Amino acid sequence: MKAVILAAGKGTRLLPITETIPKVLIEINGKPFLWYVLKQMNSIGIHDICLVIGYKGEMVRQFLRDNHFRAECVEQKELKGTGDAVRCVKDFVGDSSFIVYYGDNLFSGGDLQRFVQDDHLTYIGGVKVSQPERYGVLLLEKEYLREIKEKPIDFFGNIVNAGLYKCTPEVFPIIEQLKLSPRGEIEFTDAITALATERKVKVLKLDDYWLDLGKKEDIGKIEQFLQKREG
Ligand code: G1P
Repeated sequence: MKAVILAAGKGTRLLPITETIPKVLIEINGKPFLWYVLKQMNSIGIHDICLVIGYKGEMVRQFLRDNHFRAECVEQKELKGTGDAVRCVKDFVGDSSFIVYYGDNLFSGGDLQRFVQDDHLTYIGGVKVSQPERYGVLLLEKEYLREIKEKPIDFFGNIVNAGLYKCTPEVFPIIEQLKLSPRGEIEFTDAITALATERKVKVLKLDDYWLDLGKKEDIGKIEQFLQKREG
């Protein structure tokens, strides 16, 4: 199974830490966040990995070399959003299914394993939260996705987009047709919503933990969680 990690983002909510390092290299218990993501992928047998790099991308390449991780890198030249980032991996993906993993999130190996599916469907990870307005909210019809509403002000539900997908190459021509979102980006979630209108997207609710490195307070919480888990 191929996997793509989105690691290009600037991490403006994590300034000033991200003035000198990219978000995915923020240290968690002495190791860069990305170290945990890659270790976990490798532990369930995923080795065919491509990272989309951008902001301070050379530091990510150096980290991979220093830690002997086998992974390709493609550079997103302009940071035009997650949809544009996925467009950059078209050649890497070829005609196989692939996992898309937001590099500022960490899931359990067990949950990740459930996304290793070689079929014609798209899968998106959903997780129940108490503050859905901070995320992309998933509107469901049984186990299928109907729509993703990004950061809605009104309440639509409390199952949100965890930032983990299994995709097929079918997504690439859809990305080409996307228009810029209100925040001026090509949003990957818009491509997923387009597929959802054809009942092609299944929601897999995560059974285990979801760690989202979004803001400064998350660093300590993630450190504590992983310390406890690792004993
Ligand atoms: C992105 C996605 C959102 C998702 C979130 C998970 O938001 O657009 O749908 O719920 O990641 O971390 P961002 O972190 O870019 O605001």
